Amino acid sequence: MLHVSNLLVGGTGLVYAWMLYLVKPTDPYAVVNHPWQPQTQHLHILVAPLLVFTAGLVWRRHVWAQWKRGMEERRRSGLSLVSLLVPMIVSGYLIQTSVDDRWRRIWVGVHLATAGLWLLGYLAHQAMGYRRVKSVQR
Ligand code: HEM
Ligand code: HEM
Repeated sequence: MLHVSNLLVGGTGLVYAWMLYLVKPTDPYAVVNHPWQPQTQHLHILVAPLLVFTAGLVWRRHVWAQWKRGMEERRRSGLSLVSLLVPMIVSGYLIQTSVDDRWRRIWVGVHLATAGLWLLGYLAHQAMGYRRVKSVQR
C-alpha cells in the first residue's frame, strides 16, 4: 500500500512539477503549459488521500512501535519521514485554502521542499534494508 501510494502521489506530483516549472507552452496565450496539466493536478489531489490514509494505517504498528522499541535499524531515515509527513500534508491543503498570494507561494515552497525530501527519505529508508541484507550476506 505504501509503495503504491507513494508511486501514485509522488508520480503525479513530479509530473505536475515538470509541467508547471519546466514545460513551455507552444501557444503564447495558453493558460496551461501542457494540455494534460489540469488532469494531472486533479489526479494528484484525488490520489493524495491514499498516502495520508496509508501512513495512518502503519502509524501505530510500524512507526510508533519501532520508535517505542528503540529500534536502531533505519531509525534516522524513519524519523526523517515522520518529521516530513505532517508539513507535507498540511502544506498541500494550505495551498488550496490560502487566499493571499504571498501565503500561497510560501505553502508551495514548503510543499515542494517537504515532498521532495519525503521521496528521497522514502527511497533511503528502503535502501537501508538493502544495504543490511548485503552486509549480512557478506
Ligand atoms: C509525495 C510527493 C509529492 C510531490 C512530488 C508533490 C508535488 C506537488 C506539486 C508540484 C504541487 C503544485 C504546486 C504549485 O501549485 O506550484 C502540489 C500541489 C498539491 N499537493 Fe502535492 N506533492 C506530493 C505529495 C502530496 C501529498 C502527500 C498530499 C496530501 C495532502 C498532496 C496534496 C497536494 C495538494 C492538495 C496540492 C494543491 C493542488 C492545487 O490546488 O494546485 N501532495 N504537489
Ligand atoms: C512515516 C514513517 C515511516 C514510513 C512511511 C515507513 C515505511 C517503511 C517501509 C515501506 C518499510 C519496508 C517494509 C517492507 O519492505 O516490507 C519499512 C521498513 C522498516 N522501517 Fe519504516 N517507516 C517509517 C518510520 C520508521 C521508523 C520511525 C523506524 C524506526 C525507528 C522504522 C524502522 C523500520 C525498520 C526497522 C524496517 C525493516 C523491518 C520492518 O519491515 O519492519 N521505520 N518502513
